Amino acid sequence: MQGHPSTKGKHNFSPYLKRDGNTQNTANVGMLIEFRYKCLIYYEITLVRLVRKITTGYVIRVSGPLVIAENVPNPKIGDVVHIGDNKLIGEIIRISGNRVSIQVYEDTSGIRPKDPVENTGKPLTAKLGPGILKQIYDGLQTPLTVVWSKHGPFVPRGVKVEPLDTQKKWEFVPTLKEGDEVEPVDIIGTVQETAVIQHRILVPHRVSGKIIDIREGKYTIKEPIATIQTKDGKKIEVTMMQEWPVKIRRPYKKKLPPTKPLITGMRVIDTFFPIAMGGSAAIPGGFGTGKTVTLQSLAKWSWADIIIYVGCGERGNEMADVITHFPELDDPRTGHKLIERSIFIANVSNLPVAAREASVYMGVTIGEYFRDQGYNVALMADSTSRWMEAVRELGGRLGDVPVEEGFPAYIVQLIASFYERSGRVLTLGRRPREGSLTIMGAVSPPGGDFLEPVTATTMRFVGTLWALDKKLAFARHFPAINWTLSFSRYVDLLRDYFAKELNAPRFFDYRARALKILEEGMRLEDISKIIGEKALQNKERFILMFTKMFKDGYLVQNAFDVVDRYTPPEIQARILEAFMRYYEVMVRLAERVPVEEIAGLESTRMLPRLKFSWAVVDEEEERIVGVNEELFERFYESLRKEVEMLADKYGIRISLD
Ligand SMILES: Nc1ncnc2c1ncn2[C@@H]1O[C@H](COP(=O)(O)OP(=O)(O)OP(=O)(O)O)[C@@H](O)[C@H]1O
Ligand SMILES: [Mg+2]
Repeated sequence: MQGHPSTKGKHNFSPYLKRDGNTQNTANVGMLIEFRYKCLIYYEITLVRLVRKITTGYVIRVSGPLVIAENVPNPKIGDVVHIGDNKLIGEIIRISGNRVSIQVYEDTSGIRPKDPVENTGKPLTAKLGPGILKQIYDGLQTPLTVVWSKHGPFVPRGVKVEPLDTQKKWEFVPTLKEGDEVEPVDIIGTVQETAVIQHRILVPHRVSGKIIDIREGKYTIKEPIATIQTKDGKKIEVTMMQEWPVKIRRPYKKKLPPTKPLITGMRVIDTFFPIAMGGSAAIPGGFGTGKTVTLQSLAKWSWADIIIYVGCGERGNEMADVITHFPELDDPRTGHKLIERSIFIANVSNLPVAAREASVYMGVTIGEYFRDQGYNVALMADSTSRWMEAVRELGGRLGDVPVEEGFPAYIVQLIASFYERSGRVLTLGRRPREGSLTIMGAVSPPGGDFLEPVTATTMRFVGTLWALDKKLAFARHFPAINWTLSFSRYVDLLRDYFAKELNAPRFFDYRARALKILEEGMRLEDISKIIGEKALQNKERFILMFTKMFKDGYLVQNAFDVVDRYTPPEIQARILEAFMRYYEVMVRLAERVPVEEIAGLESTRMLPRLKFSWAVVDEEEERIVGVNEELFERFYESLRKEVEMLADKYGIRISLD
């Protein structure tokens, strides 16, 4: 087409100034509208950009789990930010000028400079309420089993699922009534969450006043179950869910002294290096020395009501292994599955190292929440070294000055504040109760060197140390807890409990005696290695023999044997007494009686077997059905007879009592 004839030769400088004909006019109006519309869009885009500029910052650099961003609005340390279109979760850890450093808890690959960074203005929190038990979470409280059922094992990035089921209705049973005055952390009602645990619903923090309405019945965690009227007349609806910032410890009324033991059923622990309820313990050990097996034994057998297991992933497949096995574990204390009273927090491999930190804090916070409900909670972290390695990596990227072996100085503060969140406390509330959180952390020193910074620092802040020994593990002496390096600062505080509750007044005297004998035994062992056992005096040879009997018959404990895996504390006291009373008489007889003759005695044969023979076992069901009551009488009977016989034979004056 050559153009419209009427426009030929005329001014045609603007499409908006066409003057001829109706059709022309309509076209002009249409174009005008289009132009205005374009302007509007342009204006809107500019506006959105402007608003975004105020409400979001943008990425300027990415370095592994560390993102540097600029112009993030109102940044505070600890604020959670969302990065990029997938809204990856990160936390502000440094601020300098208009720049912030963000540790990102999700995989940062794909994040580019200029990607938006939104500040939520809120810290990382844990959502707490019914439905939390039996869960396997990651450090951001993503319920992994729910995610896996939707997306399979390879979870796409940026997938966000509510930590607690918001649809499920729970049967709420009030324990308080209308008109009752309440304060934070008072229990207002309960929910039977699993077969073995009653979830106690707490009045949220910062809410106190009078209950003006409380509703029995089935509700979701988002529906109000009570209304509380504050002093100034405000009405607050309370639900069964609360949120708590993970890095802030939950307050309590008062800390109580650690005077109750957390019985574990492991003889070397309960007898020699006990841990108190609300105490803290570290279990350092080189590769394959038994950290995981020990922590799992503690999870199964210790006298805690709630178990929180934080897996920081030693090896990639170990975590997967633990996740599949943990829900299968039977709970010997309830007859149900252990998971019914547990929460598992796993650092799955698709999360970057920074998420280990989130896992640890998430675990502790959930622990404190159940402590506030009046439960005794045990938290196991395997292994805290992996967390510290993440801190080191991030510190390096931040340019922090390394102090020792590349670790920044603030690991001391991090380790201290982690273990300090343990404790036996009296909770807040008008009706306070007692609860405890015991923390046990595995430490994996590279090369088994306990002087390395993480192990050395951890040892300063824990009440109990179970030092795992490579040599013992190699000799298959399990638990490979070294009795000279380990310690418990709770021994004196627990003395009364053992004396009164377990009716074992001499328990700690026997304990001290046994440690002395072990020490002497080790000294003799070293000498005998040089000069040969035969060159030792007869009495010394007896001490050496006894030490071996005591190690095999008391310290060594097989986590996989039906009887041996758990020895009740009162049985521990009786076996320990048997060993010590045997020693007292025999060591005197050994002045003259040849050690070979002592070795052949019935009592010598019985003693190391007491750890198995105390129990009556149902072989078919593989469980203990009773205590062999006459066993200890039979043992003392043999001992008495044999001592009398030997005393007679060798002309020694001795009595068993
Ligand atoms: N109490 C125990 N009773 C019997 N066997 C044990 C005991 N403790 C450890 N073992 C044995 O030692 C092996 C290694 O233990 P475990 O996996 O707990 O070591 P670890 O210290 O966690 O190792 P890693 O450093 O690789 O994580 C177990 O597979 C088991 O055979
Ligand atoms: Mg392990």
